[in-house]
Amino acid sequence: MMDAANNNGEHNKNNEKSSRNGRWFRLFGSPRFRKALRIIWNNPKLFINAIYSFFVCFRLFGLKFYRFPVIADFGSKIRKAHKAKLEIQGRLYLGGRYIGDQSGADTYMKLPRGTTCRILGRVKLGPGVRVILEPGANFSIGDNTYITAASIIHCSTSISIGRDCAIAWGTTIMDTDFHSIVYEDGNQNSISKPIVIGDKVWIGCNCTILKGVTIGNNSVIAANSLVNRDVPPNSLVAGNPARVVKTGIDWLA
Ligand SMILES: CC(C)(COP(=O)(O)OP(=O)(O)OC[C@H]1O[C@@H](n2cnc3c(N)ncnc32)[C@H](O)[C@@H]1OP(=O)(O)O)[C@@H](O)C(=O)NCCC(=O)NCCS
Repeated sequence: MMDAANNNGEHNKNNEKSSRNGRWFRLFGSPRFRKALRIIWNNPKLFINAIYSFFVCFRLFGLKFYRFPVIADFGSKIRKAHKAKLEIQGRLYLGGRYIGDQSGADTYMKLPRGTTCRILGRVKLGPGVRVILEPGANFSIGDNTYITAASIIHCSTSISIGRDCAIAWGTTIMDTDFHSIVYEDGNQNSISKPIVIGDKVWIGCNCTILKGVTIGNNSVIAANSLVNRDVPPNSLVAGNPARVVKTGIDWLA
């Protein structure tokens, strides 16, 4: 009798053990799973954003969605025409929380037909940032660059932003005037010229960068500046219109 009871007990123990070691227990009972559940419970937005990102990636990249090239906050949009090219070499983050803006406004990208948008690494576009391309325009942005909040990029010809740049909130970068000026002699100014922003450029808040400007590597644009002329590398420019106030500088990210 005793032996049978012992056997039964052992059998139950073994059963329990095998179910504990079972695949389902390993998945749902594991500390890692419980930790993930706790994180989702405490930040439901994270979960919603993950599902939303899945749909965004699936719509843009079809079956290659599994690489998750876009991580998007719920509500942010990429309106891409069928004949537009969106190349993401790293990962594009849309939304998130940044200093300077806690509004959670939607991030928006418009890529009409004939445009090329190249994301050359890990790039973050903060809440309320709008990137608007006109048909045929080229836009590229380098690795480890971020644009904090409510900034506007309007590209009608070409805008290229280098790597490791920090662009603060409320900044406008536009390579077009939208209207042309006709002078006394009948000549017209050129309405649009490409903008090139080098590597590791820091643009302070509420700046405006106008058409045809090239900003050299490691330069700093002071807050509220209007840049309508080229900026040499390693220089600090400030004011409206921006003038070089210091040269031979660098800045720490
Ligand atoms: C660019 C900045 C960091 C420079 O700081 P700094 O090295 O301490 O510069 P200084 O205060 O010594 O200024 C140097 C000169 O530039 C001028 N200057 C600096 N910022 C200016 C601005 N925004 N507009 C006009 N002139 C400015 C100063 O008046 C000074 O001129 P002077 O030598 O004739 O007196 C600072 O001016 C700035 O813009 N800070 C805001 C950064 C920002 O927007 N951060 C957002 C988060 S990323």
